[in-house]
Amino acid sequence: MKNLPLVSFILLSASFLGNPVLSQHQQESGLISSNESSIDQLVQRGKMLFDSDIGCWVCHAQSGEGLVGPTLLFGPSPSEIYFQLQSNALMDVIRTEMDPSDEDLVAMSMYIRTLANLPLDDAIDIANGWRQDLAAVKGSEANEQVFPRSARDDQIEAIETFESFANNWERRSKVGSVLTQYDSRVVATFEPGEQKFFPENDRTYFYENVGTNSSPSILYDGYVSPKSNQLVVGDAESLEVIASYEFPEALRATVHTSAMSPDGKYAYFTGPREPGIDGTPDPSGAQTMVKVDALTLQPISQITIGARLHHGQVFRGKMLFDMFHRDPGGPAVIIYDHETDEVVGAIKDIDMGGMVYTVWPDNDHKYIYALMEPTGYAPGRSSGMVGLVSLYQGELVAMRNFWVAKIDADTWEVVLEFPVPGYRPNWAVIDSKNEFVYVVSGNSQACKHDANTGEVAWCNGTGIGPYGASLNADETELWVADKGEGAHHLGRTITVMDTESGHATETLYGTYKVDHVLLSPNGKEMWSTSNGEGKLTVYDVDTKETIEIIDMPQNGDAHGMIWVYYNESGESLVVRDQGNFHGGINPQKGISLNY
Ligand code: HEC
Repeated sequence: MKNLPLVSFILLSASFLGNPVLSQHQQESGLISSNESSIDQLVQRGKMLFDSDIGCWVCHAQSGEGLVGPTLLFGPSPSEIYFQLQSNALMDVIRTEMDPSDEDLVAMSMYIRTLANLPLDDAIDIANGWRQDLAAVKGSEANEQVFPRSARDDQIEAIETFESFANNWERRSKVGSVLTQYDSRVVATFEPGEQKFFPENDRTYFYENVGTNSSPSILYDGYVSPKSNQLVVGDAESLEVIASYEFPEALRATVHTSAMSPDGKYAYFTGPREPGIDGTPDPSGAQTMVKVDALTLQPISQITIGARLHHGQVFRGKMLFDMFHRDPGGPAVIIYDHETDEVVGAIKDIDMGGMVYTVWPDNDHKYIYALMEPTGYAPGRSSGMVGLVSLYQGELVAMRNFWVAKIDADTWEVVLEFPVPGYRPNWAVIDSKNEFVYVVSGNSQACKHDANTGEVAWCNGTGIGPYGASLNADETELWVADKGEGAHHLGRTITVMDTESGHATETLYGTYKVDHVLLSPNGKEMWSTSNGEGKLTVYDVDTKETIEIIDMPQNGDAHGMIWVYYNESGESLVVRDQGNFHGGINPQKGISLNY
């Protein structure tokens, strides 16, 4: 035995050190003096190991009759136990904590014989036979498992463990505020048109930004994509689409988000590049976002933001957007004032020491967690997506580490950085007490981190290529959308994970390329968006049953979800978006909308 972690264990085993334990020579030559006391000692030692804190009894019962593990009353030989330790992941704890020696195995086998009431008359011979057997098994392993190694094998084995890397993390971001400026411009304005959506008071509605990139191969025969983007509004209580509007084609761009101003009056879309003199997008112009009226559902203006809008959410009474593909010198993140149509603050990758992928405010909007990508996986803007795809396609076996940067939203300083075990983290969920951050990574893995230290509480597998995630109202479950991102897999499941243990508890069936999943503001439903089929799926959080599948107009790809509440006096308020709950509503804090 070595490296025993438990003091009690050390004390117990120490009592054996004074006993005539077999020497290596005796073991090899099989010269064992035949006396009863040596068998007694073996049995006692076996019992001590079997019944120790992290012993066999935990899973096989003290009687050996079996619990989680099967009965041992057939009397396994040391070789049989050894085989389990080599091959049975459930017995990892024995390997790591007890790490039994050959003689420990012999002792336990002998003790199990007594539990099973198997004869002990020839115990000395049996024990010697076992020792020879075990030596033969290990000897053949040593001879037959010397395989050729390449320089690449050596390199792969030399890769630093995550733990060591995390413990020796070196700061990537600059010290001091990372906030800078980006001068936005309103480059076009449009007539808002006529009101199409007439909300009722004291009712909740959903808004959805819909694009033109569903996957025809998985839709019905004869499916034709919409020609342009659409803003869709529906009734969150009856689960019906009410109205939509398809934009002029010149304003089409690839949709990635649904984002609305805190007052629910405007929606924001990824836009094309700013128009040139002929009015069409100018390939060398700045990238824009399109602002849309929430009642006429029509575009009203176009604003340069220096990068391609990715995700957005309400933040401190304004908007927080993260970006894809920056213009030269363009920002990675912006704070946008929806009242003045100005970018009032920006963050650049250079100051963060890596590429910012997505950003996630906590529940108090005190900190923002930025999911960070190392560079080196694509020309120009280094996309972690290229690395992830390469990983799934077998071109890479490992990638540089991705990390989380925690930004204080008062000082705009990065106050904590921690690496994540997974590759290409996409999404983060912060619990309502701001204690934990759940990070979902593209390599089919989710991890729970301490929000103050970054320490990993658990990591576990999700469905393939996961993207979005959400906690249920009591925060016992993490729902993960298994999109197939990077894996080119047509993901259509949701994995429900236990937030305590990280184990999957259920896999739910859904719609293709399920991208985002969000708990509704009544706390009872989980809604997911399908990029592949242009549908929203509404699940009952408790029964896990599908309540409704809502088709988007022309099955345009659905991205993100916004819930807007119109109060008794008809004022609108965003109560839920991809970042969080807003406007005083939060089912995770026991304040739900009652419908
Ligand atoms: C954490 C739980 C756990 C602990 C602790 C544990 N086992 Fe097991 N063991 C299992 C499970 C589960 C199986 C069945 C594995 C399978 O089905 O493949 C198993 C299988 C076995 C088997 C194979 C049984 C057969 O039917 O072939 C043997 C032998 C065994 N364990 C011996 C031990 C001994 C000896 C110890 C203590 C040194 C021990 N186990 C500790 C969980 C455990």
